[in-house]
Parts: sequence; structure tokens; C-alpha cells
Amino acid sequence: LKFLCYSNDGVDEHMIWLVGLKNIFARQLPNMPKEYIVRLVMDRTHKSMMVIRNNIVVGGITYRPYASQRFGEIAFCAITADEQVKGYGTRLMNHLKQHARDADGLTHFLTYADNNAVGYFVKQGFTKEITLDKERWHGYIKDYDGGILMECKIDQKLPYVDLAT
Ligand code: ACO
Repeated sequence: LKFLCYSNDGVDEHMIWLVGLKNIFARQLPNMPKEYIVRLVMDRTHKSMMVIRNNIVVGGITYRPYASQRFGEIAFCAITADEQVKGYGTRLMNHLKQHARDADGLTHFLTYADNNAVGYFVKQGFTKEITLDKERWHGYIKDYDGGILMECKIDQKLPYVDLAT
């Protein structure tokens, strides 16, 4: 099992994984227009942390790091249907937090969570209370009325994943 983060960088292997992830999002997020999913997953300002097993993507999180504002917006998050509730979603988020802090320099995540995913995000440390100063995020993230805005503060010291294993 591997957790790898890539954007649309033109590398064939990465493109195959991103297309697989796009297909998982299209199935698992039926309310999202497919063209919108493709556009963001393939957009070079977005990155995707992916769970790869036997060279096949089984889930991932697509986000946009706003380096100057030091926060990231999570656009999509999903695990393929027959691999849900096995802990992959939790491990994926831990890898994302560590990468976002150490590679992107982020301190927070914001996301519009679907109603039925609020429980998952709460378990990952997200809250409905937004503590990030509005000047840091207002005008950066798009208003989206199909979900609940949630925030996660990324601990600046905690080892979220054991990179030695
Ligand atoms: N509601 C409440 N709790 C949940 C949900 C949920 N929808 N999904 C998982 N959990 C809980 C699990 O029971 C588990 O709790 P535990 O630690 O007490 O046992 C914990 O959250 C973590 O479970 P994982 O097995 O790590 O989660 P999983 O691998 O299934 O991934 C995910 C969670 C991504 C939500 C997955 O179920 C999924 O793809 N769902 C469909 C798509 C979706 O709703 N995505 C989020 C939309 S919002 C957005 O994309 C910004």
C-alpha cells in the first residue's frame, strides 16, 4: 500500500492514477458534475494524495494549496465503494496532513463537507467552527451551498504518519 501525492505533471503513471481517481470521485460524489471533477483533478494548481494498492488507485483527496495563505482547500475526498470503512480514509487524511504541512507549509484545511460525510471529517479532526481569520480565506475558496464548511488545524509537530514503515 502506498500513499503518493501528485498533480497533473505529464508523467504517464501519474496520469493513469489521476484518471482512476477521477472515476472514483465521479461514482462516489454523484452530485458533482463530472466535468467539474475532471477539471479540478487535472488542474495544475490542485494536488491529489492517493492510496495506491497493487499499482491501482483505491481512493484519494484532491486539494488546492494556497501557499501565500498557508491553507488548503479540500475539493474531493473518496474511497472506492468496496474498500470503504477499512481505515483507508483515515490513513489517507493523515498522509495528507503530513504532506501539506511538510511539503506545502500549510497550517489549516478547509472543506465543504457533504452532509453524510460530516461524521468522517469530525473523526479526522475537522470542526464546523472556523477559527482561521476570514481575511486569510475569504475570496479564495468558492462558496458552495451543497455542504457544510469545516476546518482542520494541522498540528505543526505531531508525526501523523510513520514514514519508516
Ligand atoms: N459518516 C460517519 N462516519 C463515517 C463515514 C460517514 N460517511 N465514513 C466513515 N466514517 C467513520 C468510520 O466509521 C470510521 O470510524 P471509526 O474510526 O470509529 O471506526 C472513521 O470514520 C474512518 O473510517 P475509514 O474506514 O477510515 O473511512 P473510509 O475509508 O470509508 O473513508 C470516506 C471515508 C472517504 C468518507 C468514504 O466512506 C467515501 O468515499 N464515502 C463516499 C464519498 C464521500 O462521501 N466523500 C466525502 C464527500 S465531501 C468532500 O469530498 C469534500
